[in-house]
Amino acid sequence: MKVKIEKKSILDVNADVIVVNLFEGVNTPGGVTGIVDKAFNGIISDFVIQKEKFNGKYGEIYQLPLIESGKKIFVTGLGKQSDFTYTKIRDLTAKVVRSCSLSKNIKKVVSILHGAGIAGLCPFSCAKMIAQGAISGTYVFDKYKTEKQENPIEEFIIAEINDEKFEKAKKGLEEGLIIAESVNNARDLINESSQYLYPETLADYAVKNSGVKTTVYNKEQIQEMGMRAFLAVGQGSVHEPKLIHMEYKSENAKKKIAIVGKGITFDAGGLDLKPPSSMLTMRDDMSGAAAVICTMQAISKLKPDIEVHAIVAACENMPSGSAYKPGDVITAKTGRTIEIDNTDAEGRVTLADALAYAEELGVDEIIDIATLTGACVVALGTVASGIMGNNDNKIKEFIEIAQKAGERYWQMPMYEEYGDSLKSDIADTKNTGGRYGGTSAAGIFLSKFVSKADWLHLDIAGTAFLDKPNSEGIKNATGIGIRSLIEYIIQ
Ligand code: BES
Ligand code: MG
Ligand code: ZN
Repeated sequence: MKVKIEKKSILDVNADVIVVNLFEGVNTPGGVTGIVDKAFNGIISDFVIQKEKFNGKYGEIYQLPLIESGKKIFVTGLGKQSDFTYTKIRDLTAKVVRSCSLSKNIKKVVSILHGAGIAGLCPFSCAKMIAQGAISGTYVFDKYKTEKQENPIEEFIIAEINDEKFEKAKKGLEEGLIIAESVNNARDLINESSQYLYPETLADYAVKNSGVKTTVYNKEQIQEMGMRAFLAVGQGSVHEPKLIHMEYKSENAKKKIAIVGKGITFDAGGLDLKPPSSMLTMRDDMSGAAAVICTMQAISKLKPDIEVHAIVAACENMPSGSAYKPGDVITAKTGRTIEIDNTDAEGRVTLADALAYAEELGVDEIIDIATLTGACVVALGTVASGIMGNNDNKIKEFIEIAQKAGERYWQMPMYEEYGDSLKSDIADTKNTGGRYGGTSAAGIFLSKFVSKADWLHLDIAGTAFLDKPNSEGIKNATGIGIRSLIEYIIQ
């Protein structure tokens, strides 16, 4: 499906579906919806609103067939104007595209630039959200289905006749499409079975598709770098661990930042084996890695004035005769010793070395993203991701940028006492301790491996992989994190 924008009246685009909108409680449609209403003799105000009682409730779509032409008008509900957000523009567009793709006869869809009319939102951001919603709306993972789901829609067109709005929206659309493609690529990577996606194939993907200079280190090289904590986690697997380092450098870079993604291609729990129901979806344990790889794809196209390093310590956490064991003491790259209390708390052990590697690059700022703790799923559910770090202002800034990008983060506390359970009798720290406050304890553990850089930690355990569709209609891999990381980096 091609997504584009045309400087035309919505009535002058020849399409099978015309998408207009309505805020809740509006009886006389204004703006472009009003123009369409008048052109069709008041069919929206008299029939859809008065007779059918469609009142613009958020997310509802009234599908109005036009008898003469066989075309349809979709009147979409935007909800209350005071509650309107950019995220709603994206989610509604995804919903429209999904419902259009169910009908074989819909090849061309034309849409109003939601949000840029009466709501007065920035046309650039509105178009950016529409582009992302439209592309998300086409997402399916049907690689392993013999019968593929055809998407009949060939074109999705935004119509905007105003010169200024058109120019802004055109730019927003371009950026939106770049971001959307990265998000869908990450979804493909995460949804892929771990029988095909293991450290080597993940590294190959990064080399071929990250769009930036990518170096892959093998086991011997990782050993030479002293990353013993990372190696310990991977030592029970038949697949060799790989350290992936991607670099993007602008000539005018004033800031140097690293993004680090947890890259456990399958988390069986190790010798502290997970029960079946918890293990089932653990191919998603590289969602952080997918996020940083696919963020780099977008960065390579958006070309911001910054230096970005993306790091993935990729391995598999398996039980076997060679696996690391509870009670083992490992010396991490920084020299800190870790007593393994539970082999299933493996993400933080690999991240300890990945963070240390990032810090050695001399970056000003490090952001790690990880499906790290089940405790985060308990605390925040699938609705928001956790965020922690060593700089409160940066945490606040990230939350705000993410919100506008359509992702939610909620700050979790890092009180010292959360680290009490990590005290070890024989080493500098244990990798886990008590049952309670697990997300914060993991945050405290990670903080010990960053000394100078500003550091943010994103726990996406609850938001990376869903068993029910989210507000965007996405089930299984969501591609969470990419939109926020990109926006935060390009600011
Ligand atoms: N990958 C899991 C965390 C996870 C849980 C991700 C649910 C996605 C959904 C992580 O490696 C893990 O196993 N964490 C343990 C830590 C515990 C042993 C301290 C957990 O949260 O149960
Ligand atoms: Mg685990
Ligand atoms: Zn894990």
